[in-house]
Formats: sequence, structure tokens, C-alpha cells
Amino acid sequence: MSAEQLYPVPQDFACNALIDDEQYQQMYQASIDDPEGFWAGQATRLSWMRPFRKVKRTSFDDHNVDINWFVDGHLNVSANCLDRHLAERGDQVAIIWEADEPGESRSITYRELHRDVCRFADVLKRQGVAQGDVVTIYMPMIPEAAVAMLACTRIGAVHSVVFAGFSPEALAGRILDCKSNLVITADEGRRGGRSIPLKVNVDEALTNPEIKSVERVIVVRRTGADIRWHEHRDRDYTVLMEQADDFCPPDPMDSEAPLFILYTSGSTGKPKGIMHTTAGYLLYAALTHQYVFDYQPGEVYWCTADIGWVTGHSYTLYGPLANGATTVMFEGIPNYPDVTRLAQIIDKHKVSILYTAPTAIRSMMALGKAAVEGADGSSLRLLGSVGEPINPEAWHWYYETVGQSRCPIVDTWWQTETGGILITPLPGATALKPGSATRPFFGVQPALVDNLGNVLEGATEGNLVLLDSWPGQSRSIWGDHERFVETYFKTFKGTYFTGDGARRDEDGYYWITGRVDDVLNVSGHRMGTAEVESALVAHRHVAEAAVVGVPHDLKGQGIYVYVTLIEGVEPSEQLRQELRQWVRREIGPIATPDCIQWAPGLPKTRSGKIMRRILRKIAVGEYEGLGDISTLAEPGVVEDLINEHRAMM
Ligand code: WT7
Repeated sequence: MSAEQLYPVPQDFACNALIDDEQYQQMYQASIDDPEGFWAGQATRLSWMRPFRKVKRTSFDDHNVDINWFVDGHLNVSANCLDRHLAERGDQVAIIWEADEPGESRSITYRELHRDVCRFADVLKRQGVAQGDVVTIYMPMIPEAAVAMLACTRIGAVHSVVFAGFSPEALAGRILDCKSNLVITADEGRRGGRSIPLKVNVDEALTNPEIKSVERVIVVRRTGADIRWHEHRDRDYTVLMEQADDFCPPDPMDSEAPLFILYTSGSTGKPKGIMHTTAGYLLYAALTHQYVFDYQPGEVYWCTADIGWVTGHSYTLYGPLANGATTVMFEGIPNYPDVTRLAQIIDKHKVSILYTAPTAIRSMMALGKAAVEGADGSSLRLLGSVGEPINPEAWHWYYETVGQSRCPIVDTWWQTETGGILITPLPGATALKPGSATRPFFGVQPALVDNLGNVLEGATEGNLVLLDSWPGQSRSIWGDHERFVETYFKTFKGTYFTGDGARRDEDGYYWITGRVDDVLNVSGHRMGTAEVESALVAHRHVAEAAVVGVPHDLKGQGIYVYVTLIEGVEPSEQLRQELRQWVRREIGPIATPDCIQWAPGLPKTRSGKIMRRILRKIAVGEYEGLGDISTLAEPGVVEDLINEHRAMM
């Protein structure tokens, strides 16, 4: 181990931390040697309405993928996040809401949140929502979004949160896939000083003639903007809440009852509805939140993730609330009104723990120390990173400038499918190496395999798989279990395949090297190349498109597009702009191509498969070492692409 890269646990941090290295080693070993015993012990941190009969019944066999935890138990997520805290911490703040505009914030206690959730659960029932129904939530980062999610869990409805930055088309696709009958939205959202026309987007999505399921749209008034109102369909949140009961009993839900669906991109065109279930998810979110962030009672914890992503589900909401924590919910973005915003919020609310993404860190870093100018920052004691590999330069800036060289950084690796953090340091236990997510969490058995599926030992590099189940794991893809099996369990038999590559060093630390499939990571958001390609070919001038990722200073990866136009259409700057706008409209701003290169032809094998390896190299100007191109159907296209790329640069 090269000493200069190693950051040992600070002495004072280790003394007060929940878990030190010895405990980590001992608990990790116990969790692997006796998973049933370990998880039965952990399960006592939840309140059960009926005890489970078996801890774990799971199979990764690709003929019978079947994942069950805490079999036959009953519990309710909202009761675990709210009711059981009332006696001890009813008056403690559950959510600190910080608005887009500085100066506006709200604190909501556990008692107040409980009452709002009860009322809204009652509203949902009166609107005819029943157990197992899917409710789509398309909302800005306002407390009502948390209320809506928790209210669903109270009555056993399944929520599907769609990120408010997604387009009407993307929203429509998700509503269609899960056939929800109710949509919850706001008149508008506020983000970075601008308004986002959420209700307009919902109206537009619902003009899709294929959507027949939606009977109700409930609208929260966030800005009071003028909006169109469909009397038969739309209802005002405030009006409904006034008519609702103050108490709504929590429904006992089976451990394996679906809790939520969250759509994410894969290597094929259509986003997948990742399904999580009740008990295992909540327990795993709560446990990881407590130990990874070393959360201690009374502390203010802030995860900047939007509830539209899994990080917002597990670590803005469910994990912290299950632990009775005070969680910050921020409506805005890190650089509005200026780059000091995060630092100001940290000081204003005395935040102890900050969990954010490398892309946000890099955007602050771009302005040197300006991000912390005039800030105190002394409340902070721990930092976290998630969503993509954090480059050492950004790690050091985060550590020194935000963390004042005294706060450990937990670089947490996980996925929408994993429900919670799988590979991470524990801040009181793990010496840090910038850029490494370090070691597995309790119960997690990572392995590296070669392309044939052979498990590799020692310091090595390979495809990252997980050998056995953990409670927070996704159980299926909504309505398509076969695709679930196909995507995660067929590549390397008997294991869960993450889609990531990783290296393991001589200390057993893991270094995530990035996706090995056709999935990009743009600003910490997952984007399927096929998704962008199918948006492009839907344009009347586009015959074919191929998308690859290229390194990008701020976003981690940028979207590089090769477009073949249909016969007779001339390339132009105007068309380039039009295509950029087109993709934004089809998917959302996060999918906007960074670069569009005209391609008279694409390099394909004789069987018609696009050779992305070659496209990736040309996109970054590596014209040498393209490998064997003799197998191409038309080897000449490569030279054309290189010439075009040269001309553009
Ligand atoms: C993919 C999952 C997990 C919540 C946010 C993203 C990449 C995630 C790290 C990390 C390196 C990371 C992986 C993973 N990723 N965290 N700490 N270091 N890479 O969730 O949208 O499901 O994306 O994000 O490639 O597979 P997601």
C-alpha cells in the first residue's frame, strides 16, 4: 500500500464512531458466516406487525430467480418512519426543507409529518386508491413529495416517482408501463431560479391516447401559477387535505409486498421499472444509513439527491426517517444563486453529514475556493459521494476545501437495483484511498469474474458480481420478471451481475472502473445509449444513430452521437441544434447530446452489429489501435469517420 494515498481514520472520529475496524471485521465475518443469524438480529431495528418465519429464501439460479427476505412478516413502512418515533421524538424536526430561493425554509416535526401523511393516505383512499395500485409521483423537491411517498406506503399503494426533469414523453412511457391510475404533481417546480411546468407536462403526457388508466391528477400548489384545470380529472391537494381525517391506520403489509417502482436505463431502449419490496428494502436502507454515515441522534443530515433517483428514496427519505433522523430536503441546485449555496445551507442548518455527487463537487471545484468563501463549515464531520467514480482531484478538493481536511469521505458504490449502499468505507473503521469505494458492507459478497465467469482471486480486475442476496436487492422488473433474470442473472450464472467493472487491490479494496455495458453515466445519472439512439431515430431526418460516452470534465461522461441522415437530407448546424432539442424533448435535459458528428455510414460487423469500440476511440481522437477492422462489412467508413472527426476538432 503506498502510504501517501492512505487516509487513516482520524483518532477522534474513531473514538466516537458507531463501528471501528475491529467491529467491522467481526460483524462482516458474522454476516457472511451466518446470514440468517446476522439479519435476524438486525431485523429488530424495525417494528413488525407480525413476525417473519424465515429470514432468507433466495435463489440466483437463472432458471428460478426468486428473492424473499423476512418471509411472512408484516410491517408498514410509514409506521416505521413515523409512528414509532412519536413517543420519543414527536417534536424533533424530521424534514428541514430549503427552498430554491435562499431565505425560504420550513421545518417539519415528526408529529406534523405523521399528521400530513395520515391525512394524505386518507385522501388517497377516498380517491379509490387500494393496496397494490401504482401511484405516479411527478413532483419537485417539496415536503409534499415526501408526504405523497409515505402516504402510499401507509396504505400499501406502490409509488413510481418520475424525476421532474423528465419530459412529458418520458413520463407518459412510465405511466403506460405501470398502468397507474393516479398522478400526483405540482403546478410548477422551482429549480435554479426557473420554473418547471410540471402540470403542463402532465397534461401533455396524458394526451397520449394509449394511456387509459389515469383517472385522477392531484395538484400541489407550489408557485400558484395559472394552470389548465380538467374538472373531471384534476383535484387540488390543499382542498382534499382539508377534507381528510387526521388519522389513517397503517396497513400491515407483507415483507415482500411491492413498495415502489423506479425506472432506470438499461442497455436496451426501454427504461426498466426496478421493483423494490417492503421489509428488506427498508431494513437495508436504515442500517446502511446509520452505519455508513455514522448517524448519531440529533444530527442534521443532508443528502442532496432528488427524490426522482434511488439515492433520494433511500438516503434523503426512507433510511434517515426510519432512523428518526433530521433530513434536509433541498429544492434547488448547488450553483444557485451562486456557487456558495451548499456551504450556506450547511451553515444555516448546522449540517453534520453531507452526501452529494462528484458532478456537483466538480462544478464547485471549477471555481477554486469560491464555493466556501465566507462560510464557516465547522458543523460538518462527514462527507459522502455517490453516483459515479470520484476522480482523485475532485476527492482532494472535497476533502480539503469542503471538509477542511478533517472530515472522512465515504465513497459509496451502489445502484438503483441494489436498493442501498453495497461497497463503502465505514468512517470509523476504514482507512480511505481517494477514488476507491473500499470494502463491502455487511452481508455483501462482491467478486470479480473474467468474461467467461471464472471467479478471480487476489489483486485483479474484472466484472463485478455479487455472489449472494442482500435484503435491499430489487426483486424484479415491474411486469417483466424474465427481463430481470435476463439482465442480471444470465451473464454470469449463479451471480447478480452489476454491469460494472472493478479492480481489487492488494488490500482487498475495490475500485469501480465504470460500466462494461452500453450504459453511460452522465452527471451521476444513468443513461442508456440505446435510449438516446431510439430518441434520435424517431426524428424524421435520422436514418441511424450510434451513441457513445466520452470523458467530460464536469459531467464525468458526455454524450457523443454519430448520426446518419436519410438520403437527400443535408447536414447543417441548424439541424444539429434541432436534434439536440429533439433529444431534450424526447427524454429530458440530462440526455442532451454534447456532440453530434455526421456519419455517412457506421462501422458494423457483417452481421450488422455496430462496433462501438471503434466509435468510442474516434470520439476521443484516438485514431490508432482501432483493432481489427477487417471484419467490418465496409471498412472504408472508418476512414470517413476519422476525417469528419478531424474536421470538427
Ligand atoms: C451506477 C448506478 C447509486 C445511486 C446513484 C446511481 C455508478 C454509483 C458509484 C461510485 C463509482 C458509481 C455505477 C453503478 N456508480 N456509485 N461510488 N463509484 N461508480 O444509481 O443510476 O442506478 O447508477 O452508477 O456505474 O452501476 P444508478
